[in-house]
Amino acid sequence: MDLGLADRTIVVTGGSSGVGLATVCALLDEGARVATCGRDADRLAKVAAELGAGHDRLLTGVCDVRDADAVRDFVRRTAEEFGGIDGLVNNAGQSRMKGLDDSTAEDWRDELELKFAGVLNPLQAARPHLAASGAASVVNINAVLAKQPEPRLITTSAARAGILNLSKSLSAELAGEGIRVNSVCLGLIDTGQWTRRYAAADSGRSYEDWQAELAADRGIALDRLGRAEEVAFAVLTLLSPLASYITGTSIDVCGGVGRSIL
Ligand SMILES: NC(=O)c1ccc[n+]([C@@H]2O[C@H](COP(=O)([O-])OP(=O)(O)OC[C@H]3O[C@@H](n4cnc5c(N)ncnc54)[C@H](OP(=O)(O)O)[C@@H]3O)[C@@H](O)[C@H]2O)c1
Repeated sequence: MDLGLADRTIVVTGGSSGVGLATVCALLDEGARVATCGRDADRLAKVAAELGAGHDRLLTGVCDVRDADAVRDFVRRTAEEFGGIDGLVNNAGQSRMKGLDDSTAEDWRDELELKFAGVLNPLQAARPHLAASGAASVVNINAVLAKQPEPRLITTSAARAGILNLSKSLSAELAGEGIRVNSVCLGLIDTGQWTRRYAAADSGRSYEDWQAELAADRGIALDRLGRAEEVAFAVLTLLSPLASYITGTSIDVCGGVGRSIL
């Protein structure tokens, strides 16, 4: 099936690793033009070199999604160089493994800032370009935590629920501008987030054994962590113009870890 993404311009935040990188790769494979950003310039340059896409296909920008001015510059450069923007994937970020008693006021402030700025800064910057597209799609990368909070990730769970709520409002607000807004809610996906936690745990077990125990502990129905490519498939589906009647909803990519039926 042709997803109709060839020659469309998609901005993916946080494309130098994990889910963002898999999404960038899948979009380039579909013939899209892609702009992506991250904070670490060296990592971004290394990934761009490995992808081997020409400057007419892949644009990178060093910016923190919390910095509205830097995001605006990155988005403006994308629109100028690629002649417009048709899609936005708000992916950049990370979770905070802390419970109620070890979450400081700063943790709460930082987490809410990252999650909300990570959606609102790119969206505000891209909005006029998306509105001019005629068939624009925004995909917010979220987590099943939004619907199924975990006390050990208390700030992230609360922030994720807020973002799911915000996505619904945005879908209604922006429908009149021809912009669809949806979410992809992740379970446990094997990316940099988990390799960092594995290294920090220093358990003496192999990464495979550690992951298997994690999958059993969390009750993942499919009995394994997900792959970033499996998330990218859902993201591209929602970005596709073929999904023209899908807005204000979410797709769980979680291997059955989610217990919610909504
Ligand atoms: N993996 C999971 O199990 C899982 C589960 C639920 C939700 N998620 C969410 O999925 C998204 C992608 O996570 P991932 O697992 O693919 O993580 P990852 O492998 O660590 O990749 C994160 C990407 O985001 C960039 N990034 C992080 N903070 C940023 C910031 N403030 N501004 C700009 N770029 C930033 C990183 O680059 P720099 O570090 O160079 O900035 C990197 O490119 C995140 O929002 C995460 O919270 C992941």
